[in-house]
Amino acid sequence: MIEVRDIIKDFSSVKRQPGLMGSIKTLFSREYTHKRAVDHMSFSVDRGEVVGYIGPNGAGKSTTIKMMTGILVPTSGNIQVDGITPYEQRQKNAMNIGVVFGQRTQLWWDLPVRETFSILKEIYNVNDADYKKRMSFLGEVLELEPFLATPVRSLSLGQRMRADLAAAMIHNPKVLYLDEPTIGLDVVVKENVRQAIKQLNAEFNTTVILTTHDLSDIEELCKRIIIIDNGRKVYDGTLAEIKSRFGTMRRLELKVKNPYAFKAEPLRAKYGLSGDELSCEVVDGQLNIELDRNRIGIQEVINEVLAKTELVDMSLFETKIEEIIKKIYRNEVNME
Ligand SMILES: Nc1ncnc2c1ncn2[C@@H]1O[C@H](COP(=O)(O)OP(=O)(O)OP(=O)(O)O)[C@@H](O)[C@H]1O
Ligand SMILES: [Mg+2]
Repeated sequence: MIEVRDIIKDFSSVKRQPGLMGSIKTLFSREYTHKRAVDHMSFSVDRGEVVGYIGPNGAGKSTTIKMMTGILVPTSGNIQVDGITPYEQRQKNAMNIGVVFGQRTQLWWDLPVRETFSILKEIYNVNDADYKKRMSFLGEVLELEPFLATPVRSLSLGQRMRADLAAAMIHNPKVLYLDEPTIGLDVVVKENVRQAIKQLNAEFNTTVILTTHDLSDIEELCKRIIIIDNGRKVYDGTLAEIKSRFGTMRRLELKVKNPYAFKAEPLRAKYGLSGDELSCEVVDGQLNIELDRNRIGIQEVINEVLAKTELVDMSLFETKIEEIIKKIYRNEVNME
């Protein structure tokens, strides 16, 4: 359904000089700074897949989505969505896709929600029977009824997001691009939106590409995730794989007399461990140790601590998936 082949996107912008003189100089300046937002990105997505496209701020997620939707043209590389090159055949592509950018609405600000939907029906040439059927389905899963007569500008954030999702689905697109569809929503509305996405995918076999900073979105919706950092792909696989691979990670939080007495290095050397298999840091006077219990026994580590200093209190946790993903973002674990 989607083929992304070796995409690069470079942005260039005029270099800014500091200060007032600088601003004046900037007006005449021909100096540019270049930023590679997407760097040799490739992946393909099958019909009906729900893929989480995640990464830290500025990683290049939105830029990739904008190229897939045809809003931006890649600097080099090629994209095919259902056999169409989006940025070359924008009209044709638009019939195939639905887009929600959580940060801003696609709807007409002054019109009531219902009106906006009817306009979209005309734009996309949806026949009456299909429109009726789809609106009743969308109305139900997204609970649109209470605010259909409300002008878009008066909607709450959660209502607006649901209206945006419905608007993106009116023409029953094959692909749905959702860029942070749960941003700023409370837990209840978030759950509604997730359920709606799930049902849309199940009912119409819609292919969904989703970006989010909320890992619970991913846990609930996406079998597959693509993690990107600095415009590059760092992981493409299932969340389950990440879990099973890092599921033996544990976090020891120790209150000790002298938290600086313990060092990870000697134990790493002794057992031939890498930095992601054993590490420690002192936070607020507390010694936190992360370890892979497949590689070193918890007792070994505690013995080493006891040999160095006096123990006051101790807790043991499983390393949370959020923490593991953060480590992947920060390049602290080896994904090879
Ligand atoms: N129009 C533009 N001109 C210049 N630089 C841009 C432009 N759009 C994006 N960038 C830069 O490209 C990089 C990637 O931005 P992008 O919006 O794709 O990140 P993102 O992964 O969506 O981040 P976030 O999680 O914050 O939404 C950033 O460094 C950003 O500053
Ligand atoms: Mg973004």
